[in-house]
Formats: sequence, structure tokens, C-alpha cells
Amino acid sequence: MASLTINGVSIEVQAGDDTPLLYVLSDELQLQGPRFGCGLAQCGSCSVLVDGVETRTCVTPIASLKNKAITTLEGISAYYAAQTGLASVPQTTPVQDALVEEQALQCGYCYNGMIIKATELLLNNPDPTDAEIRSAMNGHLCRCGTYPKIISAIKKASRTIQLARQSAADSSMEGII
Ligand code: FES
Ligand code: FES
Repeated sequence: MASLTINGVSIEVQAGDDTPLLYVLSDELQLQGPRFGCGLAQCGSCSVLVDGVETRTCVTPIASLKNKAITTLEGISAYYAAQTGLASVPQTTPVQDALVEEQALQCGYCYNGMIIKATELLLNNPDPTDAEIRSAMNGHLCRCGTYPKIISAIKKASRTIQLARQSAADSSMEGII
């Protein structure tokens, strides 16, 4: 039995300390965002954020996650809102919106990992170069091969986030002036 903080909620789970987080999320908590792909930390489909860092849950025992903040796909909008100072939680994030608008996904199996990793990237580096996007997303496999559209979507989300930040900065300056 362990206590985990998942999407801002402290939860007691029954699984043993050496159980990979993915099994706890999907089997015990019925969270279907993170998905089993390779089971070997090679594909990224099972990723979550742990203290803001993309983490492969298929190989991460829950014993290593005590006192850490776990964010799954189900909590990504609230996490994004908290990190960017939004007054309310949007239904979807700019990354999710851009993936849909660019029709970047086909079967959608990689969707979870792509969103988690792209969110980590853009919160740390809102204006990444193409090379930085490719480097960050390296290791997230898309069996449908939609990589060019995924990169386009991340660039689109980057522009959206920058505009939102500029708008928020302009609003706060208006209050000063
Ligand atoms: S299932 Fe975890 S990285 Fe592939
Ligand atoms: S859209 Fe099918 S695996 Fe990426």
C-alpha cells in the first residue's frame, strides 16, 4: 500500500512498492490516458509527468514516486492552467487542439505520450526550434508515421502559447499604465 499524488489528489493504492505505475493507473485507478506499448521504456505511450518531467510509467515502480506530483493525460489541462497562470482550466490544451487541427494523429495510440512530452517541452521552452522539437520528441514512437504533422502541431501550439503569454503580459501592463 502506498500514497501517491495523482492529478493533485492524494490517493492510497493497494499495489506493492515494486509495481510499475502504469499498472496502478490503468488497473487500479482506471485511468486510460497512459497506455501500454512496449513495456520497456522505448515508445513513450505510457508517459506521465512526474514533478513536471516526462516519465515512462511502464518501468517506474511506485516506491520511487512518494512525495512526487504525478500528472496524467486526465490532469494535463489543469496542470497546463496552473503552470501558465490561467484563471480557469480549459477543456483542452493548445497542444491537444493543435494535434486535432493539424490532423496529426491516425490511430491515436501515441497520443498520450506525444501530448505529455510536447507539454513538457513547451512549458520549458515556449519557442523551440525544429531541431529542439525533434530532439525532445525523439523516443516517442508513432506507428502510423505522422511525425511531420506532429511537429507542425507542436509549432502551432508554440505560437498559441506565446500569443497567450503576450496577451496576459499586455493585460498586466495595462493595469500598471
Ligand atoms: S510502454 Fe512505456 S515506454 Fe513503451
Ligand atoms: S497515430 Fe497511430 S501510433 Fe501515432
